[in-house]
Amino acid sequence: MSEQQYDLVVIGAGPGGYHSAIRAAQFGAKVALIERAKLGGTCLNWGCIPTKALYASADLIHKITKNGEEFGVSCELKLDFAKAVERKNKVVEELVQGIGALEKAWKNDVYFGHGKIIGGNVNDGFEISIEGVEMNNIKTKRVIIATGSSPAMIPAFNIDHDRILTSDDILDPNFKTVPERLLIIGAGVIGCEFANIFATFGSKVLMLEYLPTPIATEETLIIKELQKKITSLGIELHVSQNVLSVENTVSGVKATTCSADVPRDQVESAEKFYYEADYCLVSIGRARESKNLGLEELGIVTERGAIKIDAKTTETNVKGIYAIGDVAASGAPMLAHVASYMGDIAVANALASIGNFPVKERTTDYNVIPATIFTNPNIGSVGLRRNQAKALEIEVAMGRFPFMSLGKAKCAGNETGFLMILADKKSHKIIGASCIGAEAPELISEIALAMQHGLTVHDVGETIHSHPTISEMVLEAAEDVFGMAIHKKGRPSFH
Ligand code: NAI
Repeated sequence: MSEQQYDLVVIGAGPGGYHSAIRAAQFGAKVALIERAKLGGTCLNWGCIPTKALYASADLIHKITKNGEEFGVSCELKLDFAKAVERKNKVVEELVQGIGALEKAWKNDVYFGHGKIIGGNVNDGFEISIEGVEMNNIKTKRVIIATGSSPAMIPAFNIDHDRILTSDDILDPNFKTVPERLLIIGAGVIGCEFANIFATFGSKVLMLEYLPTPIATEETLIIKELQKKITSLGIELHVSQNVLSVENTVSGVKATTCSADVPRDQVESAEKFYYEADYCLVSIGRARESKNLGLEELGIVTERGAIKIDAKTTETNVKGIYAIGDVAASGAPMLAHVASYMGDIAVANALASIGNFPVKERTTDYNVIPATIFTNPNIGSVGLRRNQAKALEIEVAMGRFPFMSLGKAKCAGNETGFLMILADKKSHKIIGASCIGAEAPELISEIALAMQHGLTVHDVGETIHSHPTISEMVLEAAEDVFGMAIHKKGRPSFH
């Protein structure tokens, strides 16, 4: 058995893993990247990217049907979902190939197989086996586990990958059906994004959500605006519904629910409600992928599947082994960009602990994590919501600016929604922002940068923003915090 010696082995090639491998190579490390499915992981193959490619098709339909005529563009609309899926597949394939090319350019060895840590320690190095490749044992000084997550499966939901689907199934390159009636369980991020796509393509969408609102982690004002849109798309949303079971009825699917208010021990005798459709998408969260990695044998501590790590360094309780992204119990949300960020921290700490690499130890800072939801209109948020600020006893000043008052948004017909910025009343520093409307995720990026560097609303207000651009939303909302937005009547409150 020949053995390759590496500085760093990364298990899992999602946005956490492939990013870490490239980053480590940039510092001069000899790196191996192990992937059992496809480069790019969930994000590129079954998550962010394919949904955004389908979203782009839905958005085009939306633009033409909503105000095409008013814009002087009339045409007979012919929807071809199969074509949209083919385009989505091409986008994914090209990006996956791009990752392969980048790893090659950085001279990283990519192994396709299942990676498992079979022994070792920080002083002597670790031994990794790779099931599915010929040269199946490699040695490394440090390990980063970036194995991600997969759709949560509940036995009672009978996910059969035929009629009762996960987001992986519905994004399969061969799934080209627009269900006449689509039942979506869970009105979180995934549920809402798919509801928008399929309702726009003509499905009659019905959503069942356990909590009293969809996307419950967002600002209440944002949720209200989204709910208006959900209704206007003809999506039927039933909240406070505890879905107890889902079954394939051969001709379709049937879900059984009871009110979410019913205590657990009284569910059996509670009044039941039944919902039927042709297909069912289950989007109720994700489970960590931490099985068969050799964790138990090495004594790496997990908690309900999540790998416990030092929140600051991303190192597990076994020195030299780090965990990042969805699989790690970081306390941060399961987001692609969080995984990549954690990868940077893990790489810095892993290589600094080896020595001789031009990199210093780093610690995590999760205060500024932007998040996006690609419904129509888009949603973006960063930092604190008002209720969180209140819980932290921070006195908040809020600025809010509507898209309908912005020249560029009006030109583009994007008049729905608003951006709200929260500032600390004492320091005037920005502590959070939420936006629903055109380019919301892009607008939030500017605010994330301002927050990361401790800027005040005045700093943003004093920055020249190009006209006419959607970015002026940020300028106006920042100025509105102290009542001085030019295109909105306010009451100057502090200077
Ligand atoms: P989620 O946690 O966002 O939403 C799941 C929803 O299902 C929750 O609202 C929950 O209350 C509901 N639910 C759970 N059990 C239920 C039951 N028995 N009956 C009815 N409702 C039930 O999880 P989701 O949407 O699956 O997304 C998974 C992860 O992927 C999230 O962490 C999300 O942030 C990430 N993601 C990020 C995207 C982005 O950045 N644009 C896009 C899609 C996913």
